[in-house]
Amino acid sequence: MKKRMIADRVYWMGAIDWDRRLFDSLIPLPDGTSYNAYLVEGSEKTALLDAVDPAMADELLRQLDGVARVDYLISHHAEQDHSGTLPLLAKQFPGAKILASPKAKGMLLDLLDLPETAITTVTDGETLSLGDKTLKFIHTPWVHWPETMVTYLEEDRILFSCDLFGSHLATGDLFAKDQARVYEAAKRYYAEIMMPFRTIIQKNLEKIGGLDAQVIAPSHGPVYDKPEWIVEAYRQWVSGAPGNVVVVPYVSMHASVERMVKHLAASLVDRGVRVELFNLAVTDVGKLAMALVDAGTIVVGTSTVLNGPHPLALYAAYLANALKPKARFISVVGSYGWGGKTVDMLAETLAGLKAEVLEPVMVKGAPSADDLAAVDALAEAIAKKHAENGFA
Ligand code: FEO
Repeated sequence: MKKRMIADRVYWMGAIDWDRRLFDSLIPLPDGTSYNAYLVEGSEKTALLDAVDPAMADELLRQLDGVARVDYLISHHAEQDHSGTLPLLAKQFPGAKILASPKAKGMLLDLLDLPETAITTVTDGETLSLGDKTLKFIHTPWVHWPETMVTYLEEDRILFSCDLFGSHLATGDLFAKDQARVYEAAKRYYAEIMMPFRTIIQKNLEKIGGLDAQVIAPSHGPVYDKPEWIVEAYRQWVSGAPGNVVVVPYVSMHASVERMVKHLAASLVDRGVRVELFNLAVTDVGKLAMALVDAGTIVVGTSTVLNGPHPLALYAAYLANALKPKARFISVVGSYGWGGKTVDMLAETLAGLKAEVLEPVMVKGAPSADDLAAVDALAEAIAKKHAENGFA
């Protein structure tokens, strides 16, 4: 694929990874991804912003074949899907300076084979003239590593946002034309990668909000030529208000738990509460993460294995705790044969959410009519809490 123009002498470069199905050996990529780099040619100097995953370095080098000089290699983020090709690029353009935030410099030196002298740090708000184009560096820490920054091209009002606003989506579209599809991929990306940092992202959104960018060019997925909708989506996702939604990750070994969670789902729907059920034996954890973005309550459903929750339920609880969704209430429904510490172990695993624990429903064997009435009582308690707290 050739470089593609997004504005006068501003080009998308990079690689579309149609086949990748897993990131960080953890995150499913049902729609592949892309690694976006950008070339900005000023009247005097040229800068390349970010690079590609080392596995796709050849693609970027081919695109750079006709580029006579690169004066600056700008590294927004030290994670290797953007920085891993820097040593190769530094060899290709030996006169180029690598520019990065002070924190990124340390991390790049830790991760890559680069000499300390190759990297120059830039301060928050510092500008760099390329002649008739000016780059402004804005430190945006913890989006999603501590060293992250973004760059604003002042004359063209383009924000190069690196992972922020990104989407794991392989598509031939340079711009985000299919808004519904990109929204879905961007929400998945936010849920899996950005959600744990939503409070600091809120501050960073305020920081970059005043720039009035007319284009946002992230490092994954399509470029936003009408960026208002993705900025608004992020504002909603990071806001403190959960939705009137209960997310139920569950695992059922002999149908008892399945009966309980399906009864719970029907009971919640009857009370006007939205529900999303995820059978952990077959679910895509990315979908679960997306549902957690809006969850007001999380109810884990689990069978008992030995003396505790099924490992898949524990995994879902660990994931939810790590992703830090804004859910305010948690509970457990489950079944056991002769005992166990399921509720304690799950509540402990979810402790980081600082959510109120609503009365769990643990039943011996298959649920009786009384047990299902207890599930109804849990649904009633959840509906009441959501209404009292104005979850919409
Ligand atoms: Fe796309 Fe955090 O790297």
